[in-house]
Amino acid sequence: MIELRNITKTFNLENKSIHAVNNLTLTIPEGSIFGVIGESGAGKSTLVRCINLLERPSNGEVVHHDVDFMRLKPDELLKVRKKIGMIFQQFNLFTSRTVYENVAFPLKGMKTEDVRKKVVELLTLVGIEEKINAYPSQLSGGQKQRVAIARALANDPDVLLCDEATSALDPQTTQQILSLLNDLNRKLGITIILITHEMAVIKAICTHVAVMDGGNLVETGKVVEVFSEPKHPTTKSFVKSTHQAERFIELLRNPQGTFKISPEDDILRIDFVGSQTADPLISHISRRYQVDTNIVYANIDIIQDVPLGTLVVILSGSVEGRRSAIEALRNSVKVEVISHG
Ligand SMILES: Nc1ncnc2c1ncn2[C@@H]1O[C@H](COP(=O)(O)OP(=O)(O)OP(=O)(O)O)[C@@H](O)[C@H]1O
Ligand SMILES: [Mg+2]
Repeated sequence: MIELRNITKTFNLENKSIHAVNNLTLTIPEGSIFGVIGESGAGKSTLVRCINLLERPSNGEVVHHDVDFMRLKPDELLKVRKKIGMIFQQFNLFTSRTVYENVAFPLKGMKTEDVRKKVVELLTLVGIEEKINAYPSQLSGGQKQRVAIARALANDPDVLLCDEATSALDPQTTQQILSLLNDLNRKLGITIILITHEMAVIKAICTHVAVMDGGNLVETGKVVEVFSEPKHPTTKSFVKSTHQAERFIELLRNPQGTFKISPEDDILRIDFVGSQTADPLISHISRRYQVDTNIVYANIDIIQDVPLGTLVVILSGSVEGRRSAIEALRNSVKVEVISHG
């Protein structure tokens, strides 16, 4: 478990101070894949660099397994830092060294045959053993990131910090690297802290998420919880970016738009989590209250094996029927009445 307590990082420039991280407290559970999301400049990289004291916080405690890194002597810090690997958007490989030499770099001091064995093992783990003698310039972005991951794992770290590790990759390669990180988390039990500005990355593999805005932690929790009930406007806008429900509702509202809604109809937005499958519910209210239900938009995301659904439904029928139907729906799912007929 990593605990960041009241972390503040201020950069003092000539004529001003920048508060990159403000009094931020956060617990990162062991074995989690912990996403940190926020707009550019939110303080994500600064915060994550505080975890291994690559950036020394101006204030606060950085506690790994009950040890406050802020209190360690320089040589003790060097030692514990080896157990924290890090990868970056631009891979940061040594361009004049081969893949072998890059991965062997952190293994200085070991016997040559042990180094060889470890490097082959690491390259096999990340699926790139055949490139052992290649130079970085001969590799694709995805392959370079695999080499960087192998190098970051050389000292068998407990924690892997990933700063926008997939931001320079195309969508397909991004998925492959994310799935590799997911495998490593399962196989090695390594805690992964992953910075991104894309909700899709969080959705794909993270168990937990922290949302940052202007150096502050504005929301944190399990991904499913944060996704299904976003509270802070920044979180809401990230969640909104993952599906088209809001845009669809705009279209429905536009009287000049493609959709012709009778003024007597209700438009509902229904959100549900997990096993509250909406379909039988919709046919049930339709029969029971004699209303017509037209599902005009539907989206289901699966996050950490939990389905999260959003429907937009047009409800027609008597005033009383519609009112009772909405009431019945509200017993099981979240209903927002977008417009009342
Ligand atoms: N070494 C530094 N010296 C001065 N200011 C810095 C330094 N590092 C970061 N900052 C400032 O701190 C703030 C947070 O920067 P940070 O790099 O942590 O943001 P970020 O969320 O990682 O952004 P991005 O998504 O663009 O990478 C910014 O205003 C940035 O300009
Ligand atoms: Mg950054």
